[in-house]
Amino acid sequence: LARGVTAPDLAGRHVVVSAGGTREPLDPVRFLGNRSSGKQGYALARTAAARGARVTLIEANTGLPDPAGVDIVRVGTAVQLREAVLKATADADAVVMAAAVADFRPADYAQGKIKKKDGQEPAPIALVRNPDILQEIGTERARPGQVIVGFAAETDDVLANGRAKLRRKGCDLLVVNEVGERKTFGAEENEAVILAADGGETPVPYGPKDALADAVWDLVVPALGSV
Ligand code: CTP
Ligand code: CA
Repeated sequence: LARGVTAPDLAGRHVVVSAGGTREPLDPVRFLGNRSSGKQGYALARTAAARGARVTLIEANTGLPDPAGVDIVRVGTAVQLREAVLKATADADAVVMAAAVADFRPADYAQGKIKKKDGQEPAPIALVRNPDILQEIGTERARPGQVIVGFAAETDDVLANGRAKLRRKGCDLLVVNEVGERKTFGAEENEAVILAADGGETPVPYGPKDALADAVWDLVVPALGSV
């Protein structure tokens, strides 16, 4: 292949990528959310399409322009994301959960806007757990040989936390980012270590999100069964 031409090593494969961050509504005008930009997930979708895959991109609240040649499913909340991921995963060869999923959602949704009242302190917001989508698809595979990839941003003992998370979620690969200076949300570049369930550890140097995305697919491809 000529330089700059991508090998079609995902041809004939269906890959599912989730991107962005879920928003959990409190009332018609407010939500609990997070700072995920969706850029890493979009880079994964774009690079998979360039490598010949059929791509389902499930996006939550990114506001990013649609990448060409990718099927897009739009969701808002974690519960909606779960529905969309389970549906798309049924016939997927690989699933990458790059979306930031809110761990909790408000226990109650107010049909009308929550108003403040003179002389009254606000009521506390009760939260309930959201489903763990990655753990569900990682521990109960929809198909044998399906490759499941998660993402994790960690502080402190980054690699040990990542190893424990990879085991808990039952995934094949976990892309671990260290959160800190320069590694801000919304950045164009990223640095990571990709942990594999078989003990493998692949450092990916600080660079464009497309390069990290290609490093993920480079590890997914040999893990896929034959077409
Ligand atoms: N994830 C998921 N469903 C959730 C939470 C997380 O599918 N309810 C996925 C994310 O998309 C990501 C991976 O799990 O690929 C790790 O997310 P992270 O927030 O690091 O994991 P948690 O289990 O929520 O752990 P923590 O308490 O550190 O937030
Ligand atoms: Ca979490």
